[in-house]
Amino acid sequence: MTPVDLVTPRLLLRAPGEALIDAIAEACTDPAIARYTTVPSPYRRSDAEGFVRDHVPTVWDRGSGCVWAIRAASEPDALLGMIGLESIADGSAELGFWLAAAARGRGYIDEAVAAVLDFGFSADGLQLQRVQWRAVPGNVPSARVARRAGFSYEGLSRLGGVHRGTRVDLWVAGLLATDPRGPRDGGWPSDSFDP
Ligand SMILES: CC(C)(COP(=O)(O)OP(=O)(O)OC[C@H]1O[C@@H](n2cnc3c(N)ncnc32)[C@H](O)[C@@H]1OP(=O)(O)O)[C@@H](O)C(=O)NCCC(=O)NCCS
Repeated sequence: MTPVDLVTPRLLLRAPGEALIDAIAEACTDPAIARYTTVPSPYRRSDAEGFVRDHVPTVWDRGSGCVWAIRAASEPDALLGMIGLESIADGSAELGFWLAAAARGRGYIDEAVAAVLDFGFSADGLQLQRVQWRAVPGNVPSARVARRAGFSYEGLSRLGGVHRGTRVDLWVAGLLATDPRGPRDGGWPSDSFDP
């Protein structure tokens, strides 16, 4: 697949290129990203180089993933965060995202998630039937994002993931193409609401 740009009122989502390598390496040293995502830790510049030069073009090319750097529309050469649909197969994909610490608390992630879901479900996009979200229990900020987007909590996948070499439980939620979008608080566990 050829990489596609997505545009929202405040953001430009565009596959990350060479110019963002230093910014990615810098953002991924954030402890919250190390704690809650599968990016390498400690994160080195070579990790960002491999991500931009190998992983991103490969998944776009194979059609197994779509990865976008989240950029302000007014400043497209600066990095706000990263978002992607990975493991695309048979009408399903997995949503992942992070924001650089300085870009949090402004609703950017909701705007980026909405655009990515629109693309994922649309007839002109990936024509997905389901998008899955998974997170390490305790990642309340990410659960808030998923709830606000309309994801339904589906359960705890017991030892369903691997984090830094250790099997861990994962919260699992899903959004179907036919589901209503927008806030959906019902059914989520109480510990996904408060840190
Ligand atoms: C998950 C993550 C992207 C969420 O970012 P965030 O800063 O909590 O979320 P937002 O940037 O959308 O900010 C949301 C807050 O900004 C507020 N906000 C400010 N301006 C806003 C605007 N214009 N529009 C919407 N919300 C706005 C919202 O009210 C919301 O506040 P609340 O959480 O108290 O309700 C971020 O915490 C992160 O990168 N974490 C580390 C990586 C990670 O865990 N990734 C997910 C793995 S599953």
